[in-house]
Amino acid sequence: MMEKNEMEFDEEMNKRCCAAEEVIRSYLPAEEGYQKTLIEAMNYSIRSGGKRLRPMMMYASAEMFGTPVKMIEPFMAAIEMIHTYSLVHDDLAAMDNDEYRRGKRTTHAVYGEGMGVLAGDGLLNYAFETALKSFDLTSDNDDKERCLKALKILADKAGIYGMAGGQGADIESDNTGESSEELLMFIHEHKTAAMIQSAMMIGAVLQGASDADVSKIEESAFHIGIAFQIRDDILDVTSTKEILGKTTGKDVQEHKLTYVSMHGIPEAEKQVEVHSERAEMLLSEVGMGDGFLMELIGRLVGRDK
Ligand code: IPE
Ligand code: IPE
Ligand code: MG
Ligand code: MG
Ligand code: MG
Repeated sequence: MMEKNEMEFDEEMNKRCCAAEEVIRSYLPAEEGYQKTLIEAMNYSIRSGGKRLRPMMMYASAEMFGTPVKMIEPFMAAIEMIHTYSLVHDDLAAMDNDEYRRGKRTTHAVYGEGMGVLAGDGLLNYAFETALKSFDLTSDNDDKERCLKALKILADKAGIYGMAGGQGADIESDNTGESSEELLMFIHEHKTAAMIQSAMMIGAVLQGASDADVSKIEESAFHIGIAFQIRDDILDVTSTKEILGKTTGKDVQEHKLTYVSMHGIPEAEKQVEVHSERAEMLLSEVGMGDGFLMELIGRLVGRDK
């Protein structure tokens, strides 16, 4: 049987996920005009669900510095749009060639390859159109400066020095077969940790956190991201399509460079714990050792989806 506090956490998580969901949906574009099908494809991929971890992490990170400001909402929607675009493109035939995501057929499988590409483009661009709406919610120059800082993080961590850069190295390693610890860490840091860093740093920056605290959060999120991707690689081997809502077993089949292919499952499990503990330690140095974020990190170690 589940422990009481585990049930309480699940309830809390569910509540926070619903709140994030509501914010995300409130910013989705209307499906109309000659671009209706494209917008439907974008909304299809977002509405398919997902754990909404990045918006939740953004909010929880902001909470470490007081009651989150209203300006956070467009950023919560924006980060989920960028993350979802990364998944839509990741699933394309030219990349991981997957037909199943978030418990549904992938966007390109439903709308065709061209619309799949464009839905990703549309989501990435609309993320910035959305994040810019935060300026409508500012009340003074300090707020505007915080929004600008947050926008810079959103842009940097999604681009060639962040997620897209990691995805580039990832597909290149599929072709070259190059395998080294350094390359693997580069890929994990960029394709996965960067977007978690983005989420947590933006939450803090919008609350006016100090540069020193934002750096600590960046470092903590790095370890969360590494742990998260190693766990994703483990689940690709140990879990099922039914539980994960996405195709499994492909990493081994395609001889992909993953933490599991390099070190095996037991060592991978150990590293998930090592990185999670490191993340928790760094976060506790920011001073909020008992909040939801800390608990979430603990739960992600053993996540099964
Ligand atoms: C999947 O991210 C891609 C990785 C970085 C491993 P999530 O596991 O957060 O996917 P969703 O958003 O819940 O679908
Ligand atoms: C991709 O990693 C992470 C992204 C930036 C999309 P994977 O290719 O392992 O993600 P999944 O397993 O398809 O979600
Ligand atoms: Mg991939
Ligand atoms: Mg993939
Ligand atoms: Mg994977």
